[in-house]
Amino acid sequence: MQEKISPARRVSGAIRLPGDKSISHRYAMLAAIANGSSRIRNYSGGADCQSTLRAMAALGAGVEPKNGEIVIHGRGLEGLSAPAADLDAGNSGSTIRMLSGILAGQKFTSRIFGDESLSRRPMDRIMKPLAEMGAVIAAREGRFPPLQITGAPLRPIEYTLPVPSAQVKSCVLLAGLYAEGETIVNEPIRSRDHTEIALREFGAGIRVEPRRITLRGRPRLEGRDLAVPSDLSSAAFFMVAALLVPDSDLVIQGVGLNPTRSKLLDFLVSIGARIQILDVAEANGELVGDLRISSAPIRGGRIEGEMTAALIDEIPVLAVLGAASDNGLEIRDASELRVKETDRIDTVARNFERMGIHVEARPDGMLVPGRQHFRAAQFDSFGDHRIAMAFAVAALRADGESIIDNADSAAVSFPQFFSMLRECSS
Ligand code: S3P
Repeated sequence: MQEKISPARRVSGAIRLPGDKSISHRYAMLAAIANGSSRIRNYSGGADCQSTLRAMAALGAGVEPKNGEIVIHGRGLEGLSAPAADLDAGNSGSTIRMLSGILAGQKFTSRIFGDESLSRRPMDRIMKPLAEMGAVIAAREGRFPPLQITGAPLRPIEYTLPVPSAQVKSCVLLAGLYAEGETIVNEPIRSRDHTEIALREFGAGIRVEPRRITLRGRPRLEGRDLAVPSDLSSAAFFMVAALLVPDSDLVIQGVGLNPTRSKLLDFLVSIGARIQILDVAEANGELVGDLRISSAPIRGGRIEGEMTAALIDEIPVLAVLGAASDNGLEIRDASELRVKETDRIDTVARNFERMGIHVEARPDGMLVPGRQHFRAAQFDSFGDHRIAMAFAVAALRADGESIIDNADSAAVSFPQFFSMLRECSS
């Protein structure tokens, strides 16, 4: 599917975006292994989170869409059953990597596969700790999906993450639910902590110290009523749109502002963005608030180290902002970008080239000079939702109408993206 995007004079209005993808996955998985029912409001409608729901249903949880909410009837820690067919994670790294932690603790063997993109992404990062815990996992060429997971009585481990990854951390913690004793994860670089927060919400015994998480195994999890905040990573596209297009003034309501995610706001403010945070509240242990963004001159800067890890999903759209900034943007320490849904250093560079924007792609990052002219172009999402959305935002500033090929990939996280972008740009 193609989408045409016209340049915008203004991005404005008040919008509310769909539920956070990361939090939705975690709530669905934990609700399925909790006792009793959970009611989840604002569950992400993105294809990734639907993959998780289908997998939990295939494992025996009751999954019931009800008046725009999802009700999940949990089966308890020991209550999942062997699926009748292989589990399909679709495009979703979070589904395959986090669910593998749960599957490792089961009394049955399961197989889980993904689409072409997911089938090229490395799984050895979860296979290693799960094998240490006692699970037997076979993978294509030793590291790619499909995975065959033979569950086993698991041993607790202490594991230090070799790559900053919330998916790997979560996988080990979810497996730790099935291990007798304390599972410990050390993370030298902090990653999003939605799993820790959700585990506590569902009643698990978890202790969080700086860079170290300790989980007590075999808890009794209880079903909960939960509300998913809107996705800050989806909001990032609209925030950058409002910063790129002059005379913009946009309010985004009910956005998740978890401090491990909201480094995005700190970074944007540090390079000149005008962002107000209105009405902060807490829901299920997560911070939620309204954001107001108005256009302002953007200086540009550098993203490196811990900041790169904290902004990893936002880098494609921040690179677009960098090309319009005064001094450009340098991105370092970002080799993880090469193993996302696409190699995002490559796919960003290829689309930049189409619009005549200069970029120096590096093995672990890129240098985007500032003050560049945005030429209208025919972009390709290369099947990657964040690339589709980043270049739709770039197109708002172009000198004519642009086309996004394979635009339907946006539905992986945000099916309403193009209609909402049109709604608030004029
Ligand atoms: C996610 C973690 C990140 C992120 C992904 C969602 C999560 O991946 O890129 O979009 O929900 O835990 P990594 O754990 O591979 O860094």
